Amino acid sequence: MYDFIVTGGCGFIGSHFIEILLQKGYRVLNIDKMTYVSWENIGFEKHPHYSFLKEDISEITNLPKCDVLVNFAAESFVDNSIENSGVFFKSNVNGVHNLLEHVRMKAKFDRPLFVQVSTDEVYGDITEGTFTETDYLKPSNPYSATKAAAEQFVYAYNRTYGIDYIITRCSNNFGKRQYPEKLIPKVIMSALSNRPMTIHGDGSYVRSWVHVIDHCEAILALIEGKIKNDVFNICSGDEASNLQVVKLIYERLGIEPNIQFVENRWGQDLRYAISTEKIQKAIGWKSRHKLNETIDDVIKFYKDRYGTNT
Ligand SMILES: NC(=O)c1ccc[n+]([C@@H]2O[C@H](COP(=O)([O-])OP(=O)(O)OC[C@H]3O[C@@H](n4cnc5c(N)ncnc54)[C@H](O)[C@@H]3O)[C@@H](O)[C@H]2O)c1
Repeated sequence: MYDFIVTGGCGFIGSHFIEILLQKGYRVLNIDKMTYVSWENIGFEKHPHYSFLKEDISEITNLPKCDVLVNFAAESFVDNSIENSGVFFKSNVNGVHNLLEHVRMKAKFDRPLFVQVSTDEVYGDITEGTFTETDYLKPSNPYSATKAAAEQFVYAYNRTYGIDYIITRCSNNFGKRQYPEKLIPKVIMSALSNRPMTIHGDGSYVRSWVHVIDHCEAILALIEGKIKNDVFNICSGDEASNLQVVKLIYERLGIEPNIQFVENRWGQDLRYAISTEKIQKAIGWKSRHKLNETIDDVIKFYKDRYGTNT
């Protein structure tokens, strides 16, 4: 059984990853700075195999022993990065650099596998076809630029110091516990509270969606499959424009859409699309959930938590 350090485990994806690890009997140390997006009382806090350290990965001075470190910790909201990218650089680039430094300081036999959770946004956009893992990285906004920069440090620390890694590049995640600044929970919360839903531009921008559980299972399957020193795209191929997603949610809620089109996001990516042929061939992974089949569970989560007076 491995011992895991998970960073950013009080955020959306990291918290699901920890739930899966604990269900499978792994021991987990969660390191999280607890930014405004973090969740408290998730449900695993009292688990005997769980412990927690409130720390900033860019400032941490001691990295406890572990077999695998999975780095989810990051500033993750593109709009914020356009307003102020400094904090993105600190967490997403300096943070990764600091973690890698701590790993390299350890004796070779004591170094964990370093798993960097990256994003399909590092490729930039593509109007037709899909990106594969060997394609050129051309990020369009400060958030994705910090994620691409972090990847470069991981490659360099592998080549220079021999640190083993996995990099995963995942498409847009959906599921429970996503902070309501992101598209899907934002529509649900706007609809439940009778506020208009604001959409950038004309809403035609296409995103590829993957269920958060599928994403977490793919990362764990790579680790358990003893894969190392490689990069993998992860997505379900479930493409939809932002406007289609918004309309789907209003339809499921049985509410007439109340949409307000606002100024487009600077540097807006037109379409994200990645190929998952490599991960399918390597470990036989395929996503299990479809957006239109599981969106009702996500809606229920926010309804139960926030009711209709959000
Ligand atoms: N959400 C998506 O659709 C998506 C898609 C692809 C990749 N990713 C990547 O997955 C990871 C997790 O995304 P998410 O949606 O769960 O993000 P999130 O914003 O919901 O959670 C991030 C967590 O990291 C913590 N954190 C931030 N900066 C930190 C720091 N300096 N030190 C310690 N903890 C810090 C926050 O407190 C929070 O709990 C990110 O690295 C993101 O780039 C996300």
